[in-house]
Formats: sequence, C-alpha cells, structure tokens
Amino acid sequence: MNEISLIQPDDWHLHLRDDGKMKAVVNDTARQFARAIIMPNLAPPVTRCEQALAYRSRILDAVQPRYSFEPLMTLYLTDNLPPAEIEQAAASPMIHAAKLYPAGATTNSDAGVTHIDRIDAVLETMQRVDLPLLVHGEATAREIDVFDREKAFIDQTLKTLRQRYPDLRIVFEHITTTDAVDYVLSQNDRMAATITPHHLLINRNDLFKGGINPHHYCLPIAKRETHRQALLRAATSQPGKFFAGTDSAPHSRSDKESACGCAGIYSAHAAIELYAEAFDQAGNFEHFETFMSIAGAQFYQMPLNQKKITLQRKSWTVPEQLQFDEHGLIPFRAGQDIEWTLIPASAGSEAA
Ligand code: DOR
Ligand code: ZN
Repeated sequence: MNEISLIQPDDWHLHLRDDGKMKAVVNDTARQFARAIIMPNLAPPVTRCEQALAYRSRILDAVQPRYSFEPLMTLYLTDNLPPAEIEQAAASPMIHAAKLYPAGATTNSDAGVTHIDRIDAVLETMQRVDLPLLVHGEATAREIDVFDREKAFIDQTLKTLRQRYPDLRIVFEHITTTDAVDYVLSQNDRMAATITPHHLLINRNDLFKGGINPHHYCLPIAKRETHRQALLRAATSQPGKFFAGTDSAPHSRSDKESACGCAGIYSAHAAIELYAEAFDQAGNFEHFETFMSIAGAQFYQMPLNQKKITLQRKSWTVPEQLQFDEHGLIPFRAGQDIEWTLIPASAGSEAA
C-alpha cells in the first residue's frame, strides 16, 4: 500500500490554547482536518456557553482563509455548573459536548469535578438532552500508581456513570490500556473511545530511552508495550468503537524542559501521517478511513465530510522546533523522519 485516499478526517480531541499560542498552532490542524473537538481547559476554563462561543470566534479569526475548518466547542464541567448551562449548550449548534476532568488529574484541571455525585443534576440533564460527556479517565487519589489510574477510574467511576446514566453518550478519551479497550468493547453504542497517535506509537520505555525525555510525557502516561499493542489492535480491527482524537497538547519548550515539566505531546503538525504510520505498523489499513473519518462523526451524530485527502508513502523530516512563544515548541518526532506524506484536501477534491 503506497497511496491511500480517504474522506477528510476530524480530530475528536484537540488542545488549541489561546491568544498567540493558539494562533501559532491552529493552522496545523486546519490544514489537515475538517473539524476538531476543542478542549476547554484554558486558564480560566471554558465553563460557560458564552465563553465557548467567544473562544470559537477567536479560533476562527486565527484560521487562514484558505482552510475551511470548524471548531466544535465543549464546556468544562465543575462542581458548580448550573444544569441550565447544559440545556443552553445542547441547543447551540456550536457546542457539542461537555468534558469531565477529575479535579487535579491533568493540566488546568484544578477547577474540575471532585466527585461525580456533585454533578448528578448536570449528568441527568446531559442524558436527557443527549449532550455527549467526554471523560479524562484517570483516578486521582494519591495512593493509586500513575500507571494504574485509568483502570482505577473504570472501576471506581466509569462503571457507576454507565449504571446511573445508561443513555448518556460517553467518549472515554485518549485510552491507554488493555483494560480500557476491553471495557469499551463490552459496552453498547452509547460508549466509544478516542486513541491518540502517540499512544499508538510509543510505550513507557520511550520516556526514558537515552535519558528522561519530557517530550514523551503526557497524561494519561504511556503504558507498557502490551497495552500499546492492544490499542493498535483496537484502532485497526474494531471499526466504530474507536476513533481518532490526537490530544495534541502544545506546551512551550521551556515548560516541557523544566524541573517540573508539563504533560502534553504536540502532534498536530503530522497527526494524520502519524496515524498512518501506526496502521502501517499493524499492517492493516482496512479500517483506517472508519477510524479517521467515519466512526467519530457517527458517534457525534454529525454528517461525514465531503472532501477527500490522500496519503502517500513518502518520507519527510519533522522540523526540530516550531514557532509558538519565545521559547518555541518541540513537536512529536522532532528531527526524525515520518514515512507518510499528506496531500491535503483542496477545493478540487470533493468526494464523488
Ligand atoms: O498530556 C496532557 N496534556 N493530557 C491532558 O489531559 C491535558 C493536556 C494539556 O492540556 O496539556
Ligand atoms: Zn486532552
């Protein structure tokens, strides 16, 4: 397989930040993807519809006019969000989900939810108005090992969520373990999961290869190789339940290469090519288009994109550093070759 054409993909999980940083990264995504679910973990977080719509306008202002890109906005759940805000979100064609960050789980999650009992009315409302819940699935208790946090979240929280709100659509975001794959597969069509390109391509050894590498540090943290293999199998052979969500999460080089380095891997510069590499590694492109371009849209109940893209087996070298702030941004695979090259959608590439 040396060339693949597919419906233009969407990124179902993306961090764009704001202001100058957002302007520096947004066109990497807009060049490749038709739509993206935009994470609300700004500082301060996007907790109100009004804020989400203002953020959306800032994003659109920063997108180059030659791209047609639609940011799909989300709300950040807190212990105190009024259910009326959920009703308003569901009524808006621009807001597509609400995100559950367990408080303290990751970057800018301090205002997140301390316990799901605290947001019962909000979850009831989400179920009733059919607004999808996106979960950062990691338990946060201090005594739980960082590599076990996803499994602990399934056992302690996700199972309860599914029981209490069986009709609530849930996306288990950026899954990293066999446990998560098995759990999602055991559930009905109200539940799906996103998988990032980096969790398909690196395991936890890559954090320590030749010295500690902060550019491979993200949350949930990469797990052992058996888990990576399970993710690859899920993405390549379980059409429908799993779809692309890059979790591309830019941080300034100075915040990564620091005594307390931030979690997050920037992959937007090469997202689709990286997914192609992962599928190539598994030797199976049969469900590539479903994973990249169909399953997510179906889960979110949105139309499929009209344009097509093409990927060619042609290697290119990722720049050592990208523009971001005064310290720059180190992209995933900086200075290394990627085996696939994207020919982006163009005006002349309408699907038949
Ligand atoms: O690695 C991560 N970075 N994981 C997250 O959940 C958040 C993200 C960020 O915003 O930097
Ligand atoms: Zn994320």
